[in-house]
Amino acid sequence: MMRDEFQRFLLEYQFGLPEVETKPGILRDEFLLMHDYNPIEHVSSRVKTADSLVDKISRKGVEPSFDAIRAAITDIAGIRVTTSFTKDAYRLFDLLTQQDDITVREVKDYIARPKANGYKSLHVIVDVPVFLSTGRVDVPVEVQFRTIAMDFWASLEHKIYYKYDRLVPDELLAELKDAADTAAELDARMERLHRQIRGPRPGVVSL
Ligand code: GTP
Ligand code: MG
Repeated sequence: MMRDEFQRFLLEYQFGLPEVETKPGILRDEFLLMHDYNPIEHVSSRVKTADSLVDKISRKGVEPSFDAIRAAITDIAGIRVTTSFTKDAYRLFDLLTQQDDITVREVKDYIARPKANGYKSLHVIVDVPVFLSTGRVDVPVEVQFRTIAMDFWASLEHKIYYKYDRLVPDELLAELKDAADTAAELDARMERLHRQIRGPRPGVVSL
């Protein structure tokens, strides 16, 4: 595969990313203005580096053609939306996936059904149209919604996983699972507190 062709292939994903990333930004500004409430703590995005894409292609045994890669690897463009509360993660998911330039390909709800290691997050793969001189292409973007507590846990778990080269000792795995439960308890407590403080406000859509 030629290097230039590869760069050109990645370019579509670079174009698709801001098309989706702007959406949570708009929702945040609108909510701040209309409801004096910010449902989003943080939005980050990245296009997979060529190196990590090549790794994943060989790890998954994907045939090295652009069509095969396009079909098999759907997290080349990725966005992470971090919220204070679980409820906001679902609300933003709904608001994003209802938009009519967005097509949902796949949803994985690891908040409702956490992974065995304790990982929680709401994942969706969406297609967004990008218009090039050659016409329209639909670009897949992976969007992950999670609370600050889920994000804190996931970034630590990620570091440990790589530190131990994917072979984490059992005691540490058990501790991580326990920490995930603690994070989930904190999420539940903070959400209860938030509801008490804010209360139901007449005429305002509560998030
Ligand atoms: P990948 O091949 O790794 O992309 O997994 P997948 O195709 O089965 O998709 P999945 O929705 O399970 O995971 C997609 C992304 O979610 C990963 O690339 C990570 O960013 C994140 N993720 C999934 N599982 C874990 C986990 O156990 N720990 C952490 N820290 N992140 C995870
Ligand atoms: Mg992935």
